[in-house]
Amino acid sequence: MKSFLKIFTILTAVQKRYCVFLALCMLIGGAFEAVGIGAILPLISIMGQPDWLERHVEIAQFVSNMGVTNHVQFIILCSIGLIILYLIKNAYLAWQLRIQINFAMQKQILYASELFKSYLAKTYIFHVNHNTAILMRNVSSGALIAFTNILIPTLQLLTEVVTGFVIWVMLIAVDPFTAVVVAGLLALVLYVLVKTFRRKIAEQGQIQNQYSGEMYRWVNQGLGAIKETKVLRKEAYFSSEYEAAYKRYGDANRVFNFLNQLPRLFIEAIVVVSLLFLIVFKLIQGYAPMEIVPLLGVLALAAFRMMPCANRIVNLSNGIKFQMPLFNELYEEFCEIRDRLEAGKSQELLSESVEKLPFAKELCVEHLAFQYPEGQHEVLQDVSFNVPKGSFVGVVGPSGAGKTTFVDILLGLLTPTGGKITVDGMDIQSNIRGWQANLSYVPQSIYLIDGTIKENVALGVAPEAFDEELLIRVLKMAELYDFVQDLPKGVDTMVGERGVKLSGGQRQRIGIARALYYKPEVLVLDEATSALDNETEKSITDTILKLKGQITIIAIAHRVSTLEACDFKVKFDNGKAKFVN
Ligand SMILES: Nc1ncnc2c1ncn2[C@@H]1O[C@H](COP(=O)(O)OP(=O)(O)OP(=O)(O)O)[C@@H](O)[C@H]1O
Ligand SMILES: [Mg+2]
Repeated sequence: MKSFLKIFTILTAVQKRYCVFLALCMLIGGAFEAVGIGAILPLISIMGQPDWLERHVEIAQFVSNMGVTNHVQFIILCSIGLIILYLIKNAYLAWQLRIQINFAMQKQILYASELFKSYLAKTYIFHVNHNTAILMRNVSSGALIAFTNILIPTLQLLTEVVTGFVIWVMLIAVDPFTAVVVAGLLALVLYVLVKTFRRKIAEQGQIQNQYSGEMYRWVNQGLGAIKETKVLRKEAYFSSEYEAAYKRYGDANRVFNFLNQLPRLFIEAIVVVSLLFLIVFKLIQGYAPMEIVPLLGVLALAAFRMMPCANRIVNLSNGIKFQMPLFNELYEEFCEIRDRLEAGKSQELLSESVEKLPFAKELCVEHLAFQYPEGQHEVLQDVSFNVPKGSFVGVVGPSGAGKTTFVDILLGLLTPTGGKITVDGMDIQSNIRGWQANLSYVPQSIYLIDGTIKENVALGVAPEAFDEELLIRVLKMAELYDFVQDLPKGVDTMVGERGVKLSGGQRQRIGIARALYYKPEVLVLDEATSALDNETEKSITDTILKLKGQITIIAIAHRVSTLEACDFKVKFDNGKAKFVN
């Protein structure tokens, strides 16, 4: 029971109250259903008793006020009453269904977006250590499972239990003995069924959750490196890995679906067998068949009314169990979302309004050390140097020496394990967002969104804030202007997913244009011109050099020519850094 209530703990107080309201509405719906099922039988029974009105004098008197005096008229009156009851019942159920679906969907959208937001806000090192495919699965299925597959079924389960109980109480009123016997039998069957399948279903739930992640992973990997996949002829490898994962996922679902259908058959079999046994038993005891009929009638009625209810209870509780693993995996994150919503702080998570960290004099790297959480040894050890504002610093060193790692710390993506980087005496860690407001960065491999050149250069800039002149200026600076001019659609040319429709060098130049568009105080370049021919590189370097003095440039480069004009170089090797001139 406790695990069924867990879902409610991720809701805010307001949402919980709405759930109580929903549960009440569903109960009323359940009562309607129960009355609806129960109402047809009396009508049929009245139809079979022409003297019914004579035997029920008060009712006869009451309906005579409406001009109903004979049996046929009374049946018509009852039928009209039933028609109205059914219309109201179904209209009510439609309304109830709508508010229930609306609630689930609204909260699903809210929690999925919040989850995505919280992943975006997580540290860089979190992303280094988590597979994107799993995060994709979480964002796309996590909230869906929590609300549509767990929360609503839980409410339905609660309603079902209550309705079952109400039907049972009604049966007690009619015939206490049979009610107790039937309910006792069904409760026993229910208990055994739920207990028997519980472990197996939870186990299959785990498997389906794990392999749905795997499926995402293989699609991602196969399509993500489509060039390598094709050239190395590994299409079959990726497709068979995907298929294998899907098989495990499908298997878990198959077992679950089967186990979930079994109870219905089981319950029905038990009930029918018990009834038939009862007949045989009574006959052997010497009762005449006609004597058993009344008892049997009531029993059968009770059993067939409670059976669907028992069946739904097993189904719902199994379904919830099956979906629990992903919910449990994301539980902490959902609780954080709840707390944020409660505190009205969901906007702040990705708030863009930051106080820019002032940078007027000097950037100091002081005894900087870094070790990756899963690394064997320190990538950087006691690195110290100063960068006066406006200078151009070259960062060199062999592959794997820690240049990118250093830059990641400088960018505030990684937190140093020792030492610090200060700007005019302020540790950048004390105000990372404020420090980042000074920066532009051109990484080793540029990520382009599937949009136009304009959208990629002015990434995330709203149309009303977009600056056409600035765009042209930075395109010129990045030696892209002529190329863009020649395109039929100019800056509105689509670059394709990750920029596949551009050359490597063009992609790099878009990265440079993007970095310059934000008019940074500090420009960080990680092999930003490595994909360019000597001539283009030279002219871009020359343009960037014109910025020297206005902005601080920190550039990693392998090519000596790139760094010819720099003020000084820092050479990284074996975790240490030293000046070279
Ligand atoms: N997430 C990580 N976990 C553990 N070790 C890492 C991680 N990322 C990088 N490393 C290790 O840190 C070292 C420095 O890597 P880094 O990317 O900083 O090198 P680099 O100087 O930029 O090399 P290159 O010139 O080839 O780009 C490497 O030995 C690398 O294997
Ligand atoms: Mg690198």
